[in-house]
Amino acid sequence: MSNPFARLFPGLTGRKGVIESVVPQRSFSDVILPPRTVRMLNEALTQVHSHSLIFEAWGLGERHPTGTALAFNFAGPSGTGKTICAEAIAHHLGKRLLLVRYSELESMWFGETPKNVAAIFRLATEEDAVLFFDEADAVAARRSRDVSHGMQRESNTTVNVMLQELERFNGVVIFATNLAANFDPAFERRIRTHVLFELPDVDEREQIWRVQLHERTPLADDVDFRDLAERYAVSGGDIRNAVLKAALAAAAVDGPDELKRIHHRHFVDAMEEVVSARTVMKQSLMEAPESQAETALSETRRMLDHMRTASAVSAAAAGAALLIAVIALIIVLT
Ligand SMILES: Nc1ncnc2c1ncn2[C@@H]1O[C@H](COP(=O)(O)OP(=O)(O)OP(=O)(O)O)[C@@H](O)[C@H]1O
Ligand SMILES: [Mg+2]
Repeated sequence: MSNPFARLFPGLTGRKGVIESVVPQRSFSDVILPPRTVRMLNEALTQVHSHSLIFEAWGLGERHPTGTALAFNFAGPSGTGKTICAEAIAHHLGKRLLLVRYSELESMWFGETPKNVAAIFRLATEEDAVLFFDEADAVAARRSRDVSHGMQRESNTTVNVMLQELERFNGVVIFATNLAANFDPAFERRIRTHVLFELPDVDEREQIWRVQLHERTPLADDVDFRDLAERYAVSGGDIRNAVLKAALAAAAVDGPDELKRIHHRHFVDAMEEVVSARTVMKQSLMEAPESQAETALSETRRMLDHMRTASAVSAAAAGAALLIAVIALIIVLT
């Protein structure tokens, strides 16, 4: 089936596009989660089940057409399985997933965001799809009272439109956020359940390593997932990246393909690369404001020096003028 968004939003759709309509492939059996997250997800699924029973099978959706959306917030650090779980929920419900990368959208749609958010909800209704706003921190954030800025005004309008659409929508909406703290109270009221995604512990990491591989993936005998899980306290997303890197390295080894195996050292090297890439990113993020601050500081220093020189010059000039005045006075008096 073609992507219905292509019709409305050409250029924003397609694989890895800003908006995607996907038939979910991944299910809950592909995800390893801490027990607390599983409990919260189960609670969300029970609500979804009761919702379709009450509003679809029992017909109450036709009597009560507003205020029945099921909105969930998946909150947690990057790579902890929020996107994969949104897909698993759609899979579980046998529906398509409409994935909207919200932060990218907002920057591409400046001036048009509210209108397009409304169009997304309409399409989700037409498609009877689970709507997933990924990277949705901005949309959930508290509306600002300071609307002097065009951007701020638009954000506020978008949140208002989002709230209206949530009121009208009769399906499942999932928001994924990294920072749960700054929720707009009106938005918060419409969220049924916050599901917290946490970094996996050592046992969970060991299982994630295993679940990332396929039964056809050729592993050498020396592979020790417990060791990898103990050595690297990382997210599922990091493990995924390391698995793919390790597989690439093993596939690039000379020799016939049937003899190729992923060895323990491939996983270790790959994970070292993933971890150091993250450290470099973190450092450059941390250093950027510092270097900006340094630039600002040296700029200020330069200005101060300049002012000091200027005031020294004017002090000298004032001193000279005073001296001339005194000499003139002496001449007049004598
Ligand atoms: N709990 C998990 N169990 C199994 N695999 C996981 C888990 N968490 C992450 N992964 C793997 O990492 C990949 C990235 O995870 P996902 O995109 O769901 O993270 P996310 O929480 O949405 O991250 P982000 O906030 O960066 O969007 C998944 O496709 C999956 O392969
Ligand atoms: Mg995600």
